[in-house]
Amino acid sequence: MFINEAVRINSANHLEIGGCDCVDLAKEFGTPLYVMDEGLIRKNCRIFRNAIDEYLNGNGLVLYASKAFSSMAMYRILHQEGLGIDVVSGGELYTALKAGFPMERVYFHGNNKTVSELAMAIDNNVGRIVVDNMQELCNINKIAAGKNKTVSVSFRIKPGVEAHTYEFCKTGQTDSKFGIDLEDAFEIFEEASLMKNIRITGIHCHIGSQILSLEPYKLATETMLEFAVLLKDKLGVEIQELNVGGGFGIKYVSEDVQIDFHKYIEAISETVKSFCSQNGIKVPFILLEPGRSIVGAAGITLYTVGNIKEIKGIRKYVSVDGGMTDNPRYALYGAKYDGAVANRADAPKVEKVTIAGKCCESGDLIGKDMLMPKIEVGDILAIFATGAYNYSMSSNYNRIPRPAVVLARDGKARVIVKREDYNDIIRNDIIPGDL
Ligand code: LLP
Repeated sequence: MFINEAVRINSANHLEIGGCDCVDLAKEFGTPLYVMDEGLIRKNCRIFRNAIDEYLNGNGLVLYASKAFSSMAMYRILHQEGLGIDVVSGGELYTALKAGFPMERVYFHGNNKTVSELAMAIDNNVGRIVVDNMQELCNINKIAAGKNKTVSVSFRIKPGVEAHTYEFCKTGQTDSKFGIDLEDAFEIFEEASLMKNIRITGIHCHIGSQILSLEPYKLATETMLEFAVLLKDKLGVEIQELNVGGGFGIKYVSEDVQIDFHKYIEAISETVKSFCSQNGIKVPFILLEPGRSIVGAAGITLYTVGNIKEIKGIRKYVSVDGGMTDNPRYALYGAKYDGAVANRADAPKVEKVTIAGKCCESGDLIGKDMLMPKIEVGDILAIFATGAYNYSMSSNYNRIPRPAVVLARDGKARVIVKREDYNDIIRNDIIPGDL
């Protein structure tokens, strides 16, 4: 009945996730509440890992893209499941360090890593730094020289393939703040190969997010391999690793046609294998960076319904006790969601409602004109597929504390991120002595 894999209806006609009754969770932990199904997170990790074994004989590594959802408990799960991680900031790196995540499986990304972030990464011996531009390459070499270290780097290249949710295109010149244009790439490799404290390992690309098609991956993989061949021919530089990024799409609403995750790896692997055999080059070590596909569907958000306002002939607004502070994706992208009433889980969907948050912002919606069951004041509303880019993009706008995150497994729910309280809200405020 539900489009979401993480939830089912239990004998009390309540929604259940990870064996936990959502109405009980709302009572015990309060709302809004992020709930994540540990089993589904682990299952998704294994789908990717097994696909690497199946299609590449284990010649690859899955790096979870931390930006989708980063917390110490999450890194513990990823470690247990044998994944690596991609981090894009000192904060994500610090969280991984504190969680005891093995640093050799950390890949550090970002278009403007600061000198202190680079130093932190080098001090902690992260596996790779994925270089975004020439300035950064020089910074890394200088910092590494000062510490008498050699840093393994990969380079973010723009393959000129741009993928959107339902379409993709190949453009000559990609207008993006990330990475190095194909035309400029030789220069940076030439420089890098002369640097004493740099070890070139690979190339990286990331073509977009929430991609529900295989074609753009095949095209990007081919373009990157063509570049690798040119690198070898022109500069004698042989890359050992090809990182094809993330972006594998999930099902948010019934119209979304999700592709089984392993199929992306199958398509990428087939492209790699046939290209390499045709061109007589060694198959590189393959890296992937799934974020949303690991955690997206595994998370739901529970809200308590507050005021309901019907504007006759126009729209019915159902307000919940959260909103763009815990889920800014409608406000940012016009993203669409599906959901259910957790305390009457089998209620049929009978009317269109607009679910609104509590912020002073008209765009503060969870969804516009969503087909939902009849909703009443006090109901517990569950919004599906909020595990990726919800908590990680949450804010304290209007001084609203962030919700807790609980991890549900086998009927047990454990808090993995505490709910913020009003003291957290004023934690960094200072009233200067002369005020
Ligand atoms: N690798 C790189 C270099 C990335 O920039 C990203 C996402 C990923 C991997 C993971 O992509 P995923 O598998 O999660 O699609 N805030 C947006 C998504 C931004 C994605 C940014 N980069 C959203 O809420 O849809």
